[in-house]
Amino acid sequence: MQYGEHLKLIPPEICSIEDYEIRARKHVSPEVWTYINSGSASDLTLYQNLVQFDQIKIWNRVLRQLTQGHTRINLLGHELKHPIILGPVAHQKLVHPLGEIATAQAADVTETLMVASTLASCTLKDIAHATQSHLWFQLYFQQTKENTLELVKKAEKSGYTALVITVDVPINGLRTAVQRSGFNIPAEAEAVNISSNHFEYLPYIQPNESEIFQGWMSLAPSWDDIEWLKNNTRLPIILKGILHPDDAVTAQNIGADGIIVSNHGGRALDTTPTSLEVLPTIRKRLGADYPVLMDGGIRRGGDVFKAIALGANAVLLGRPQLYGLAVAGALGVAHMLQLLIQEFEVTMALAGCGQVDAITHDCIAHNPSHSLF
Ligand SMILES: Cc1cc2nc3c(=O)[nH]c(=O)nc-3n(C[C@H](O)[C@H](O)[C@H](O)COP(=O)(O)O)c2cc1C
Repeated sequence: MQYGEHLKLIPPEICSIEDYEIRARKHVSPEVWTYINSGSASDLTLYQNLVQFDQIKIWNRVLRQLTQGHTRINLLGHELKHPIILGPVAHQKLVHPLGEIATAQAADVTETLMVASTLASCTLKDIAHATQSHLWFQLYFQQTKENTLELVKKAEKSGYTALVITVDVPINGLRTAVQRSGFNIPAEAEAVNISSNHFEYLPYIQPNESEIFQGWMSLAPSWDDIEWLKNNTRLPIILKGILHPDDAVTAQNIGADGIIVSNHGGRALDTTPTSLEVLPTIRKRLGADYPVLMDGGIRRGGDVFKAIALGANAVLLGRPQLYGLAVAGALGVAHMLQLLIQEFEVTMALAGCGQVDAITHDCIAHNPSHSLF
């Protein structure tokens, strides 16, 4: 297999996200692989995101009548066929020439909600044309309010129905592995929906000033900016990248319509808690009805189940969509999703849950030595 080649048929031995991950590595260059699959600094959060699920045990429940079972949920007024969402992932043309358009086609056939990134390598309009399914737009605040609003209006006009504002990377995490590899985003995978160059807006730094604090952080958004944006868009807003329960409460108090508990797939601050660890507390603080989504390390249907049992309404996938895309384009992403949805259904059936609402904290076998759950 040459880098850049994609399968036209899925061989039967690909039957899990792990199989896609192993395959995907052969379809992209080592530098691209490092960019998509590494985390930040020492990769400790990245690792914890994956192993966190293994420590949680699900009760099997027997002899229940489940023939009316389904995975449908209602989220922010949207009817979704299942609670698995394609999260925002930048520069998808790195792994397939159709990039986000292929991912949107997969979202369409699997009736999956997709979140397009500010750093998408396809236009917001083209992505929107490729799917009839629900589509949200992930916003990174731009250097000026005018640039931010321009992007938001573009998303509104193209039919996106919610804004996911990512708040956990006012500056990039320490991308040590990527730095070592010398990788830069190539021209064909550049972000096409933003026009401006960050560096133009960086203030002049005096010799005794910090490039981080007086430089980059002077461009970073604050809670006031979220409130400003809320007053300047008709779309619901969801804050992505919340971990601390107090931040979750502030988000709710300022009128955010929901939050995504996330550590950015281990690509932002290294050694944060995992989403799963903080979910139960966040759910308790925000109440039963507030939309709380989560991401980070979802690789199995059982992981989706555990996240919901511990307080999430739905989960988002990051890297798994790139694995599917690298292996077989739209077909790969659609098949990857189908596998995960079916695994989730099997888990629900074996745990005696016929509906997503039935997946509660009681489905988890408690380990008394594990105080967080
Ligand atoms: C290559 C890559 C690019 C990403 N780009 C974005 C992005 O543009 N915006 C964003 O909010 N999150 C981005 N993320 C983070 C994901 O949305 C998500 O939080 C994370 O990948 C979830 O963890 P998982 O990869 O273990 O599923 C990116 C993640 C990866 C791996």
